[in-house]
Amino acid sequence: MSPKITVIGLGYLGATHAAAMAELGFDVLGLDILPEKTDLLSRGLAPMYEPGLEDILRRHVVGLPESSGRLAFTTSYAEAAAFGDIHFICVNTPQKPGEYACDMSYVDSAVDSLAPHLDRPALVVGKSTVPVGSAARLARRVAELAPAGEEAELAWNPEFLREGFAVEDTLRPDRIVAGVTSERAEALLREVYSTPLAGGTPFITTDLATAELVKTAANAFLSTKISFINAMAEICETAGGDVVKLAEALGYDDRIGRKFLRAGIGFGGGCLPKDIRAFMARAGELGAAEALAFLREIDSINMRRRVYMVELTRETLGGSLLGKRVAVLGAAFKPDSDDVRDSPALNIAGQLHLQGAEVTVHDPKAMENAKRVFPTLRYADGATEAAQGAHAVLHLTEWAEYGELDPAVLGGVVGARHILDGRNTLDPELWRKAGWTYRALGRPTA
Ligand code: UDX
Repeated sequence: MSPKITVIGLGYLGATHAAAMAELGFDVLGLDILPEKTDLLSRGLAPMYEPGLEDILRRHVVGLPESSGRLAFTTSYAEAAAFGDIHFICVNTPQKPGEYACDMSYVDSAVDSLAPHLDRPALVVGKSTVPVGSAARLARRVAELAPAGEEAELAWNPEFLREGFAVEDTLRPDRIVAGVTSERAEALLREVYSTPLAGGTPFITTDLATAELVKTAANAFLSTKISFINAMAEICETAGGDVVKLAEALGYDDRIGRKFLRAGIGFGGGCLPKDIRAFMARAGELGAAEALAFLREIDSINMRRRVYMVELTRETLGGSLLGKRVAVLGAAFKPDSDDVRDSPALNIAGQLHLQGAEVTVHDPKAMENAKRVFPTLRYADGATEAAQGAHAVLHLTEWAEYGELDPAVLGGVVGARHILDGRNTLDPELWRKAGWTYRALGRPTA
């Protein structure tokens, strides 16, 4: 019989993981402490925008017409423990307010709530991104609290999904990392992932610490790559070079590669920024702060790009933002997501507003989330509406629909034809031909 699976924490990671496990053929029970989340999911609705997620929810949530009935939701740990053989911990680990370290209280409380109910063999599998050393500590905690004793164990299986591609990344991951302390745990994880493994996905077994580190190291590397090219953009800005051409030419060296080499307003979201900070904090606790001191620089390069975008806007508007109308296209931290956590786009919109500009924001999916964070900005239902009378238009999240905007049409509604491309994805020639000044980070002015 296939193992039964529970997924604890139904955010970006957990909701997708639960749905994907049902899609792979398992019986799944998803748990969240917030009933509004489980209620929504029980109706086949996703708590966030993620392409393809609602399709698989509808295919599997119990009680929906023509569903497989393999996916149900609860708020009860007792029920989850009674149901599952494998329990995936997918709760979030946000940055602690005023500190670099991450807040482990959700993970700790998930383990503390589940373990006392584990009275038969069970595998608790951590997926959340945590400071190295947490898994070993949590393994001791499970052993201490579970009535099943050694029959209840813990493994670490980090998740590398990208928002916007979460379903695809979960069903067909590029690698599976399993931090295990027993053959039984490894065998169970191989069973869970038998479909992607049959499709050729590499399976790497490690100790607990290495599994935790793979995730934080991957995010540190990705952030470094983005900040590297953004540092080159700063050099191009002073030397008169073109960072887009530079990145293209660098990318042909396959030791470097072209991915994650797009200069712009930098990285944001719920993962990269807080994960590199938590990694630095952990290195400090371990007495290895020097090893990760470079990440401080990666973080500052990234944050500087936001400030520079505000300055570029001020310069474009003749030296002052006061009373100037600015249209901001994009609020999500990246396209195909409604996530505005630490979004460079929304951060820049906020800075412009606080410095006196009249900012109108549009985003295809993230408007509601943006309004909650920044209720004082104006919001428009379409890009063209946002651009009405604008003295400058800022392209800050590269949604496909912004790439299709017609510069001539938009030119007819704005107050002045200035476009600032914070993502380096628009075609400068197209905009310039339509009478716009096009400016971007790390690129020559004309
Ligand atoms: C990231 C990791 O990619 C993923 O493996 C991990 O599990 C969680 O964190 P995600 O937060 O979904 O995923 O976003 P990602 O696609 O990595 O983009 C992060 C940020 O970097 C975005 O704000 C994006 O706009 C920016 N970015 C990305 C760039 O500025 N330039 C690039 O070349 C690539």
